[in-house]
Amino acid sequence: MRSLIDILDFSVEELDSLISVANDIIANPQKYSEKCKGKKLATLFFEPSTRTRLSFEAAMLELGGSVLGFSEAASSSAAKGESIADTAKTVSCYADIIAMRHPKEGAPLVAANNASIPVINAGDGGHNHPTQTLADLLTIYREKGGFNNLTIGFCGDLKFGRTVHSLIAAMARYTGIKIVLISPEELKLPSYVKKDILEKNGIPYSQTTSLEEAMPQLDILYMTRVQRERFFNEEDYLRLKDSYILDTRKLVNAKKDLCIMHPLPRVNEISVEIDKDSRACYFKQVLNGKYMRMALILKLLQEAAE
Ligand code: NCD
Repeated sequence: MRSLIDILDFSVEELDSLISVANDIIANPQKYSEKCKGKKLATLFFEPSTRTRLSFEAAMLELGGSVLGFSEAASSSAAKGESIADTAKTVSCYADIIAMRHPKEGAPLVAANNASIPVINAGDGGHNHPTQTLADLLTIYREKGGFNNLTIGFCGDLKFGRTVHSLIAAMARYTGIKIVLISPEELKLPSYVKKDILEKNGIPYSQTTSLEEAMPQLDILYMTRVQRERFFNEEDYLRLKDSYILDTRKLVNAKKDLCIMHPLPRVNEISVEIDKDSRACYFKQVLNGKYMRMALILKLLQEAAE
């Protein structure tokens, strides 16, 4: 049974085909409005979410399917001590596909190993977030026309930011990619991502604490929130939370066609004055996420039926 747990579960060609389906959905939404009639998506969210859960639900509804699920662990039998494996087996009796978010790294993989329906990782702890990467890839494609020869700056919490880990893995498969890692010392990209992804693929990268210094070379700036819920102590969070705040002053030396991205939610990382700048792409990412999740649901349900 095909699932999406890690973005590398899909080949570059499969991602290209999801992008073309998403573009076709944007152009011809009517054509897709009954494609999932009679199908059910279960959203199992053990962690807070606005965009990911609602975009999955909107995606399934726009495909003519229906949705069921829960949005907090406290309202599921996890609160009684049920295992992920048993939850996955149970939900397989009610639904055709699962989207799961969980604070524990690897939980969606355990679910996929036990479910008899496809499982989509909607974020597992500080590890991965492949469907945010789908939203990011469609945004980069629509803004930049492709994926090669881009210099991408990742700024903020690169340690716990799961969207960063998944997008770096996806981008490392294209050519001419350069990565600039901008973070405080304490929130640097984990060494396993550097070794297994960047170094293994020969991707040139640099690390800096200065956003201003990095700015002039960037084609894409991917801002992130400091992941408060993954910190062991509140003092460290308070000290680091406002490390980077993007405002118009910091954009003075930026490229005219810079693409400013953020998976959202934003706390203070991007001043609202930037929202009016034509380079701000973060609300486009939100919408693109829905279309890519539609394409993803279609693909996995189709493969499950084969
Ligand atoms: C991200 C996440 O959940 O990892 N949010 C999202 O799904 N768009 C980013 C974040 O929470 O900071």
